[in-house]
Amino acid sequence: MTQSNAEQIRNEFFLTREWRLLNNGSYGACPKPVFEEFQRWQLEVEKHPGTFIGRWPEWFGQSREALGAYLHCDPKDLAYVTNATMGVNVVTNSLRSWLKPGDEVLTTNHEYGACNHAWLFACGKTGAKYINHPIELPITSDDDFVEKFWSGVTPRTRVIYLSHTTSPTALTFPLKELFRRAREAGILTVVDGAHVPGQRDLFLDDLGADFYTGNCHKWMCAPKGTAFLHVRKDVQHMIEPLIVSHGWQPDKKSAQPLYDYVEIFGTRDISAFMAVPAAIEFMRSHDWVQVRERCHLMGMETKRTIENYFGTQSICPDTFEWFSQLVPIRLPDNTDMAKLGQIMRDHYKVEMPLITWNNFKIARLSVQIYTTQDELDAFVEGVTTHLNACLTATA
Ligand SMILES: Cc1ncc(COP(=O)(O)O)c(C=O)c1O
Repeated sequence: MTQSNAEQIRNEFFLTREWRLLNNGSYGACPKPVFEEFQRWQLEVEKHPGTFIGRWPEWFGQSREALGAYLHCDPKDLAYVTNATMGVNVVTNSLRSWLKPGDEVLTTNHEYGACNHAWLFACGKTGAKYINHPIELPITSDDDFVEKFWSGVTPRTRVIYLSHTTSPTALTFPLKELFRRAREAGILTVVDGAHVPGQRDLFLDDLGADFYTGNCHKWMCAPKGTAFLHVRKDVQHMIEPLIVSHGWQPDKKSAQPLYDYVEIFGTRDISAFMAVPAAIEFMRSHDWVQVRERCHLMGMETKRTIENYFGTQSICPDTFEWFSQLVPIRLPDNTDMAKLGQIMRDHYKVEMPLITWNNFKIARLSVQIYTTQDELDAFVEGVTTHLNACLTATA
């Protein structure tokens, strides 16, 4: 992909050119044709609002079919939710009546703050313990991670909760072997896959998580407010409504709780969900496997240039399995991240999270289809020129 091609693709987005936006991971970006489809649905609904609720099941169903094909799963095992935070909350709320005092929910110390809160809230109501088991960095291999994590399992572990791709450290954890062991041990598995759809091909039926939530609005180019919750058939009976509405009845358990308890809750704007098939089509028409590969290589090159320059050790193996388009670049441990961030914003117009996680300093770079090499070069120039002035005396 040449610079001019990347420039051309940038025109397919609404993004301002006044900033170098290297933070797709936080909120995503929706291209014009997908956004137009989203708005077309809004107009459609306004033409005859009365048909809106009536045709909702049919419309939702069509969109879910496309998403299920994309995620390699039965669309009947999917519910649309507004975001991954909601997906996690549906699960934590559902498991509240199942967890008992003393039970343990095992997770890592790499989890996303809002979702930690959801678990702490649910565990607080039940007397269960939420355990952020430390996974030290660097991680050297899949086995290294699996053994580090599994050492936290005890006879009281009832649930394993993991980010598939982590927020503060941008690592993609290998899940399959853990889930095999969990199933053998009778432990439920819950995944926060907020960053994964679009960055990786998902085979949800094959992965074997009991509950998996992921965002369409981060890396799949869908409008904001689009995410899904995938629930294995044999645990769907555990789902309870987060918002109680038409789908719940006092004397009857729903046969389709994903729809009745999760998707149906009063009058709402469903247009963003209707545009998810257009987002899938946008990715297909741009040959997403190639796009992702190019973005990954651009990110990897940037990572290596900066880490080599400062002599920092990568926090994980430098392979696609560990990071795709969300790239963890390790900076020296004694970097003043606030000062560096200010320079990058004020002088380079670079937007990117500069994260302090334990003693590690991580620049979390996002490379998406619209990112140009010029932008990455400017980021490298900014960091290599100014970082030495941002080092403190001690780490
Ligand atoms: C790992 C992880 N989980 C969950 C979320 C929350 O996503 P949302 O705001 O779409 O609910 C984020 C947001 O960046 C995240 O990084």
